[in-house]
Amino acid sequence: MPPSSPAAGVAVELDEIHHRYAGAVAVESVSLHIRPGELVALLGPSGCGKTTLLRIVAGLMRQSGGRVRIGGEVVDALPTNERGAGIVFQSYALFPHMTVEDNVAYGLRARGVPAARARATAADMLAMVRMSAFGRRYPRELSGGQQQRVALARTLAVRPKVLLLDEPFAALDKNLRLDMQIEIRRIQRELGITTILVTHDQEEAMSMADRIAVMHAGEVEQFDTPEAIYDRPATLFVATFIGTANLLGGRLARAGDAGFAVDCEGGGRLSIARAAPCSRAGAVVLAARPEHLALCAPAPDALPATVEMVLPLGPSLVYELRLPGGGTVKVTQPRTAGHPRFDAGEAVGLRLRQGSPAAVFAA
Ligand SMILES: Nc1ncnc2c1ncn2[C@@H]1O[C@H](COP(=O)(O)OP(=O)(O)O)[C@@H](O)[C@H]1O
Ligand SMILES: [Mg+2]
Repeated sequence: MPPSSPAAGVAVELDEIHHRYAGAVAVESVSLHIRPGELVALLGPSGCGKTTLLRIVAGLMRQSGGRVRIGGEVVDALPTNERGAGIVFQSYALFPHMTVEDNVAYGLRARGVPAARARATAADMLAMVRMSAFGRRYPRELSGGQQQRVALARTLAVRPKVLLLDEPFAALDKNLRLDMQIEIRRIQRELGITTILVTHDQEEAMSMADRIAVMHAGEVEQFDTPEAIYDRPATLFVATFIGTANLLGGRLARAGDAGFAVDCEGGGRLSIARAAPCSRAGAVVLAARPEHLALCAPAPDALPATVEMVLPLGPSLVYELRLPGGGTVKVTQPRTAGHPRFDAGEAVGLRLRQGSPAAVFAA
């Protein structure tokens, strides 16, 4: 391993972490086992406990209960610098009176690394974040995205075992954010450094993470790959927080040995091959993605609906449909040959596409 690269690949294990601030519970019994070299996103709405959890892993605060292990070692009694955790926040927090180079070398100098070696490592780190040309500048002479790259270089310079990122792209505009997302993913892969990324942006989590922990009100509701979370949401919250979900209320019933059907409120029946996570007959909410539904001519075995609007979006068409019960449903259909085309005002039938997942939750 080159001397300037961080120690790669340690496991981070959270066991039943909980935390309360002066009476208010912020994190409730969270257990997550993160594999060496993995990038895990903590995803959830503002206030769900993401930052609290990250600060606990970093050692910036002590949890009310539970254990944190890094590389198999319980680190609860250790301060941040002895845990090998490096953290990057939304605000770059560079030292304004120091050059970029000195900012990046600062942590090394503070640890007693001789000046020449600290400078060499800083140069390596600046090369890695593609900022070699800016070493002599001051933070105020850089754009937000450039400052954030320097902050990342400064964090990586001290070879953390774990990289912790708290909404690091939130202050950047959209294009810069995409560049930085790609950049961080590249560096993270290159170094194999175990990384926890806090974000409230589902696209960011989906595109960057190996696995996502979806948080809601202090709890992890699902911890799985982006695709599994999208296709097989474990809770109604996850189904609606990630992607677009059409929600249909109704009653679940067995339909022969072939599968299940949901008798929708307001009339009509939708056949589904499997019912999960809830397969118990009774009141349910079905969540179906727009691309998992298909339109057909009205038919006895299809849910009746009326086309309200058709939006051509280049490669696909988005239909907005009105159901007999009054609710609306969105359906996305590829604009390729073989898909029947319907117009506003037409009566249609709605089915779940063959083999497409839909999630069923007890109501
Ligand atoms: N220092 C604090 N004192 C009291 N309550 C706090 C403090 N920091 C955060 N909280 C509360 O804890 C909950 C979780 O906050 P936080 O971890 O910052 O969430 P997130 O990062 O997901 O937005 C929120 O209800 C928040 O108001
Ligand atoms: Mg936060």
